[in-house]
Amino acid sequence: MKGIILAGGAGTRLSPASLPISKILLPIYNKPMIYYPLSVLMMAGIKDILIITNPEDDANFQKLLGDGTQWGMHFSYQIQYIKKGIADAFLLGEDFIGGEECALILGDNIFYGSGFEHLLGQVSQHVNGATVFAYETSEPERFGIVEFDAKGQAVSLEEKPAHPKSNFAVTGLYFYDNQVVQYAKQLKPSARGELEITDLNKMYLADQKLQVARLERGFAWLDTGTHETLLQAANFVHSMQLNQGIEIACPEEIALQKGFISKEQLKNYLANKPKNSYFDYVRHLV
Ligand code: DAU
Repeated sequence: MKGIILAGGAGTRLSPASLPISKILLPIYNKPMIYYPLSVLMMAGIKDILIITNPEDDANFQKLLGDGTQWGMHFSYQIQYIKKGIADAFLLGEDFIGGEECALILGDNIFYGSGFEHLLGQVSQHVNGATVFAYETSEPERFGIVEFDAKGQAVSLEEKPAHPKSNFAVTGLYFYDNQVVQYAKQLKPSARGELEITDLNKMYLADQKLQVARLERGFAWLDTGTHETLLQAANFVHSMQLNQGIEIACPEEIALQKGFISKEQLKNYLANKPKNSYFDYVRHLV
Protein backbone atom coordinates (compact mmCIF):
# COMPACT_ATOMS: atom_id res chain seq x y z
CA MET A 1 0.00 0.00 0.00
CA LYS A 2 1.15 3.52 -0.83
CA GLY A 3 0.63 6.63 1.31
CA ILE A 4 0.16 10.31 0.53
CA ILE A 5 0.55 13.23 2.92
CA LEU A 6 -1.21 16.32 1.62
CA ALA A 7 0.89 19.20 2.84
CA GLY A 8 0.18 21.96 0.33
CA GLY A 9 -2.14 24.89 0.79
CA ALA A 10 -1.29 28.43 1.80
CA GLY A 11 -2.23 28.24 5.49
CA THR A 12 -3.89 31.65 5.23
CA ARG A 13 -5.93 31.10 8.40
CA LEU A 14 -2.70 31.06 10.43
CA SER A 15 -1.03 34.00 8.68
CA PRO A 16 1.29 35.71 9.62
CA ALA A 17 2.58 32.71 11.63
CA SER A 18 2.52 30.59 8.47
CA LEU A 19 3.77 33.30 6.11
CA PRO A 20 7.48 32.39 6.08
CA ILE A 21 6.94 28.63 6.39
CA SER A 22 4.21 26.09 5.71
CA LYS A 23 1.81 25.56 8.58
CA ILE A 24 2.61 21.85 8.34
CA LEU A 25 6.23 22.53 9.29
CA LEU A 26 5.30 24.61 12.34
CA PRO A 27 5.99 22.83 15.62
CA ILE A 28 3.33 21.01 17.60
CA TYR A 29 5.14 21.30 20.93
CA ASN A 30 8.54 19.74 20.18
CA LYS A 31 8.35 18.44 16.61
CA PRO A 32 7.16 19.59 13.20
CA MET A 33 3.45 19.06 12.53
CA ILE A 34 4.13 16.68 9.64
CA TYR A 35 5.71 14.13 12.02
CA TYR A 36 2.22 13.40 13.39
CA PRO A 37 0.48 12.37 10.13
CA LEU A 38 3.68 10.70 8.97
CA SER A 39 3.66 8.56 12.11
CA VAL A 40 0.09 7.47 11.39
CA LEU A 41 1.05 6.14 7.97
CA MET A 42 4.10 4.44 9.49
CA MET A 43 1.93 2.78 12.13
CA ALA A 44 -0.26 1.49 9.30
CA GLY A 45 2.91 -0.19 7.97
CA ILE A 46 3.25 2.12 4.95
CA LYS A 47 6.84 2.74 3.85
CA ASP A 48 6.41 4.37 0.45
CA ILE A 49 5.07 7.90 0.83
CA LEU A 50 4.40 10.83 -1.49
CA ILE A 51 4.50 14.25 0.12
CA ILE A 52 2.51 16.88 -1.76
CA THR A 53 3.70 20.39 -0.99
CA ASN A 54 3.25 23.94 -2.22
CA PRO A 55 6.05 25.36 -4.43
CA GLU A 56 7.48 27.67 -1.74
CA ASP A 57 7.92 24.98 0.90
CA ASP A 58 8.97 21.95 -1.11
CA ALA A 59 12.67 22.48 -0.34
CA ASN A 60 11.95 22.83 3.39
CA PHE A 61 10.03 19.55 3.47
CA GLN A 62 12.89 17.82 1.65
CA LYS A 63 15.41 19.35 4.05
CA LEU A 64 13.47 18.00 7.02
CA LEU A 65 12.53 14.54 5.73
CA GLY A 66 15.04 13.68 2.98
CA ASP A 67 14.44 10.54 0.95
CA GLY A 68 13.22 8.51 3.94
CA THR A 69 16.09 5.98 3.95
CA GLN A 70 17.18 7.17 7.41
CA TRP A 71 13.96 5.57 8.70
CA GLY A 72 13.91 2.62 6.29
CA MET A 73 11.33 4.31 4.08
CA HIS A 74 11.00 5.95 0.70
CA PHE A 75 9.75 9.51 0.30
CA SER A 76 8.87 11.22 -2.99
CA TYR A 77 7.77 14.81 -3.41
CA GLN A 78 5.32 16.48 -5.71
CA ILE A 79 4.35 20.13 -5.92
CA GLN A 80 0.72 21.19 -6.08
CA TYR A 81 0.89 24.55 -7.90
CA ILE A 82 -2.79 25.40 -7.56
CA LYS A 83 -4.93 24.54 -4.55
CA LYS A 84 -7.42 22.44 -6.49
CA GLY A 85 -8.82 20.46 -3.59
CA ILE A 86 -7.96 17.49 -1.43
CA ALA A 87 -9.01 14.89 -4.02
CA ASP A 88 -6.49 16.44 -6.44
CA ALA A 89 -3.93 14.37 -4.46
CA PHE A 90 -5.03 11.32 -6.46
CA LEU A 91 -4.61 13.04 -9.82
CA LEU A 92 -1.18 14.37 -8.84
CA GLY A 93 -0.31 10.98 -7.37
CA GLU A 94 -1.56 8.78 -10.23
CA ASP A 95 1.88 7.53 -11.33
CA PHE A 96 3.05 7.14 -7.75
CA ILE A 97 0.00 5.06 -6.79
CA GLY A 98 0.28 2.81 -9.85
CA GLY A 99 -2.00 -0.19 -9.38
CA GLU A 100 -1.80 -0.21 -5.56
CA GLU A 101 -4.13 0.69 -2.74
CA CYS A 102 -3.52 4.10 -1.21
CA ALA A 103 -3.97 5.90 2.10
CA LEU A 104 -4.24 9.69 2.25
CA ILE A 105 -3.69 11.81 5.34
CA LEU A 106 -4.00 15.57 5.64
CA GLY A 107 -0.84 17.20 6.92
CA ASP A 108 -2.67 19.06 9.67
CA ASN A 109 -4.48 16.09 11.26
CA ILE A 110 -3.28 14.57 14.53
CA PHE A 111 -4.54 11.24 15.84
CA TYR A 112 -3.73 9.70 19.19
CA GLY A 113 -5.29 6.91 21.20
CA SER A 114 -4.93 3.41 22.49
CA GLY A 115 -5.69 0.64 20.01
CA PHE A 116 -5.11 2.94 17.04
CA GLU A 117 -2.13 1.02 15.68
CA HIS A 118 -4.15 -2.20 15.80
CA LEU A 119 -7.07 -0.53 14.00
CA LEU A 120 -4.74 0.88 11.34
CA GLY A 121 -3.22 -2.56 10.83
CA GLN A 122 -6.67 -4.09 10.31
CA VAL A 123 -7.85 -1.38 7.93
CA SER A 124 -4.69 -1.34 5.83
CA GLN A 125 -4.64 -5.12 5.47
CA HIS A 126 -8.25 -5.45 4.38
CA VAL A 127 -9.01 -2.51 2.13
CA ASN A 128 -12.41 -3.11 0.67
CA GLY A 129 -13.54 -0.05 -1.27
CA ALA A 130 -12.83 2.93 0.99
CA THR A 131 -12.48 3.32 4.76
CA VAL A 132 -12.83 6.64 6.56
CA PHE A 133 -12.93 7.48 10.26
CA ALA A 134 -15.71 9.34 12.07
CA TYR A 135 -15.21 11.35 15.25
CA GLU A 136 -17.81 13.18 17.30
CA THR A 137 -17.36 16.94 17.26
CA SER A 138 -19.03 19.97 18.81
CA GLU A 139 -18.38 22.02 15.63
CA PRO A 140 -19.90 19.96 12.80
CA GLU A 141 -20.12 23.00 10.47
CA ARG A 142 -16.30 22.94 10.16
CA PHE A 143 -15.98 19.44 8.69
CA GLY A 144 -17.18 16.77 6.31
CA ILE A 145 -20.09 15.17 8.17
CA VAL A 146 -21.39 11.60 8.03
CA GLU A 147 -24.93 10.64 8.98
CA PHE A 148 -25.73 7.13 10.25
CA ASP A 149 -29.01 5.20 10.20
CA ALA A 150 -30.40 3.31 13.21
CA LYS A 151 -28.22 0.31 12.38
CA GLY A 152 -25.08 2.47 12.39
CA GLN A 153 -24.68 2.37 8.60
CA ALA A 154 -23.45 5.55 6.89
CA VAL A 155 -26.27 7.01 4.82
CA SER A 156 -25.12 10.48 3.82
CA LEU A 157 -22.04 12.68 3.59
CA GLU A 158 -21.93 16.48 3.42
CA GLU A 159 -19.04 18.93 3.31
CA LYS A 160 -19.28 21.70 5.93
CA PRO A 161 -23.09 21.67 6.07
CA ALA A 162 -24.93 24.73 7.37
CA HIS A 163 -27.45 22.36 9.01
CA PRO A 164 -25.49 19.23 9.95
CA LYS A 165 -27.43 15.96 10.07
CA SER A 166 -25.08 14.57 12.71
CA ASN A 167 -22.12 15.51 14.90
CA PHE A 168 -19.81 12.95 13.33
CA ALA A 169 -16.94 14.53 11.42
CA VAL A 170 -15.05 12.59 8.78
CA THR A 171 -11.40 12.92 9.80
CA GLY A 172 -8.55 13.61 7.42
CA LEU A 173 -7.38 10.00 7.07
CA TYR A 174 -8.67 7.92 4.18
CA PHE A 175 -7.90 4.42 2.86
CA TYR A 176 -8.82 3.52 -0.73
CA ASP A 177 -8.64 0.58 -3.07
CA ASN A 178 -6.87 0.93 -6.42
CA GLN A 179 -9.98 2.43 -8.06
CA VAL A 180 -9.42 5.75 -6.33
CA VAL A 181 -7.69 7.45 -9.24
CA GLN A 182 -10.51 6.44 -11.59
CA TYR A 183 -13.09 7.83 -9.16
CA ALA A 184 -11.08 11.05 -8.70
CA LYS A 185 -10.97 11.58 -12.47
CA GLN A 186 -14.77 11.76 -12.54
CA LEU A 187 -14.97 14.57 -9.96
CA LYS A 188 -16.10 18.06 -10.91
CA PRO A 189 -15.04 21.15 -8.92
CA SER A 190 -17.48 22.17 -6.19
CA ALA A 191 -19.07 25.62 -5.78
CA ARG A 192 -15.84 26.77 -4.06
CA GLY A 193 -13.84 25.46 -7.04
CA GLU A 194 -12.27 22.43 -5.32
CA LEU A 195 -12.21 18.69 -6.01
CA GLU A 196 -13.81 17.70 -2.73
CA ILE A 197 -12.76 14.61 -0.83
CA THR A 198 -16.35 14.38 0.40
CA ASP A 199 -17.58 14.07 -3.21
CA LEU A 200 -15.10 11.26 -3.77
CA ASN A 201 -16.31 9.47 -0.64
CA LYS A 202 -19.92 9.99 -1.78
CA MET A 203 -19.11 7.99 -4.93
CA TYR A 204 -17.86 5.08 -2.81
CA LEU A 205 -20.95 5.43 -0.60
CA ALA A 206 -23.28 5.35 -3.62
CA ASP A 207 -21.53 2.17 -4.80
CA GLN A 208 -21.91 0.70 -1.29
CA LYS A 209 -18.15 0.52 -0.92
CA LEU A 210 -17.63 2.98 1.93
CA GLN A 211 -16.79 1.73 5.41
CA VAL A 212 -16.88 4.21 8.28
CA ALA A 213 -14.93 3.30 11.41
CA ARG A 214 -15.91 5.30 14.48
CA LEU A 215 -13.15 6.61 16.71
CA GLU A 216 -14.36 6.25 20.27
CA ARG A 217 -14.63 8.86 23.01
CA GLY A 218 -11.27 8.20 24.65
CA PHE A 219 -9.53 8.88 21.37
CA ALA A 220 -8.00 12.23 20.43
CA TRP A 221 -8.36 13.69 16.95
CA LEU A 222 -7.06 17.19 16.55
CA ASP A 223 -7.38 19.26 13.42
CA THR A 224 -4.90 22.12 13.68
CA GLY A 225 -6.65 24.52 11.32
CA THR A 226 -6.89 27.49 13.70
CA HIS A 227 -4.62 29.18 16.27
CA GLU A 228 -6.86 27.82 19.00
CA THR A 229 -6.66 24.20 17.82
CA LEU A 230 -2.91 24.54 17.14
CA LEU A 231 -2.33 25.54 20.76
CA GLN A 232 -4.69 22.82 22.02
CA ALA A 233 -2.71 20.24 20.07
CA ALA A 234 0.61 21.48 21.47
CA ASN A 235 -0.79 21.42 25.02
CA PHE A 236 -2.19 17.94 24.48
CA VAL A 237 1.11 16.54 23.19
CA HIS A 238 3.04 18.27 25.98
CA SER A 239 0.88 16.91 28.77
CA MET A 240 0.69 13.36 27.35
CA GLN A 241 4.45 13.23 26.87
CA LEU A 242 5.15 14.66 30.31
CA ASN A 243 2.76 12.29 32.10
CA GLN A 244 3.87 9.17 30.34
CA GLY A 245 7.53 9.90 29.62
CA ILE A 246 7.04 8.96 25.98
CA GLU A 247 7.26 10.82 22.69
CA ILE A 248 4.13 10.98 20.55
CA ALA A 249 4.86 10.66 16.81
CA CYS A 250 8.56 9.88 16.98
CA PRO A 251 9.39 8.45 13.52
CA GLU A 252 12.67 6.96 14.76
CA GLU A 253 10.84 4.96 17.43
CA ILE A 254 8.11 3.72 15.08
CA ALA A 255 10.69 2.77 12.42
CA LEU A 256 12.51 0.68 15.01
CA GLN A 257 9.33 -0.89 16.40
CA LYS A 258 8.04 -1.75 12.94
CA GLY A 259 11.36 -3.25 11.90
CA PHE A 260 11.90 -0.64 9.14
CA ILE A 261 15.40 -0.15 10.60
CA SER A 262 17.64 -2.08 12.98
CA LYS A 263 19.14 -0.83 16.25
CA GLU A 264 22.49 -0.72 14.49
CA GLN A 265 21.12 1.59 11.78
CA LEU A 266 19.54 3.80 14.40
CA LYS A 267 22.84 4.05 16.28
CA ASN A 268 24.61 5.17 13.11
CA TYR A 269 21.87 7.69 12.35
CA LEU A 270 22.23 9.14 15.85
CA ALA A 271 25.99 9.62 15.59
CA ASN A 272 25.74 13.19 14.27
CA LYS A 273 22.50 14.21 15.97
CA PRO A 274 22.67 16.93 18.64
CA LYS A 275 22.31 16.30 22.34
CA ASN A 276 18.84 17.47 23.26
CA SER A 277 15.75 16.05 24.90
CA TYR A 278 14.29 14.66 21.65
CA PHE A 279 17.40 12.87 20.45
CA ASP A 280 18.26 11.76 23.99
CA TYR A 281 14.89 10.00 24.01
CA VAL A 282 15.77 8.29 20.72
CA ARG A 283 19.24 7.37 22.10
CA HIS A 284 17.56 5.77 25.06
CA LEU A 285 15.77 3.40 22.61
CA VAL A 286 19.06 1.86 21.51
O1 DAU B 1 -9.68 17.77 8.89
C1 DAU B 1 -10.74 17.01 8.37
C2 DAU B 1 -11.48 17.80 7.31
O2 DAU B 1 -10.52 18.14 6.28
C3 DAU B 1 -12.64 17.00 6.70
O3 DAU B 1 -13.65 16.79 7.67
C4 DAU B 1 -13.24 17.71 5.50
O4 DAU B 1 -14.19 16.89 4.89
C5 DAU B 1 -12.15 18.05 4.50
O5 DAU B 1 -12.67 18.81 3.41
C6 DAU B 1 -11.04 18.85 5.17
O6 DAU B 1 -11.57 20.10 5.56
P1 DAU B 1 -10.62 21.37 5.83
O7 DAU B 1 -11.45 22.61 5.83
O8 DAU B 1 -9.80 21.12 7.05
O9 DAU B 1 -9.69 21.35 4.56
P2 DAU B 1 -8.56 22.38 4.19
O10 DAU B 1 -8.96 23.10 2.94
O11 DAU B 1 -8.17 23.18 5.38
O12 DAU B 1 -7.34 21.42 3.81
C7 DAU B 1 -6.79 20.50 4.73
C8 DAU B 1 -5.29 20.43 4.51
O13 DAU B 1 -4.99 19.98 3.19
C9 DAU B 1 -4.59 21.76 4.69
O14 DAU B 1 -3.49 21.58 5.56
C10 DAU B 1 -4.09 22.17 3.34
C11 DAU B 1 -4.11 20.87 2.54
N1 DAU B 1 -4.58 21.12 1.17
C12 DAU B 1 -5.89 21.45 0.97
C13 DAU B 1 -6.36 21.65 -0.30
C14 DAU B 1 -7.81 22.01 -0.53
C15 DAU B 1 -3.71 21.01 0.12
O15 DAU B 1 -2.52 20.70 0.32
N2 DAU B 1 -4.17 21.22 -1.15
C16 DAU B 1 -5.47 21.53 -1.42
O16 DAU B 1 -5.81 21.72 -2.62
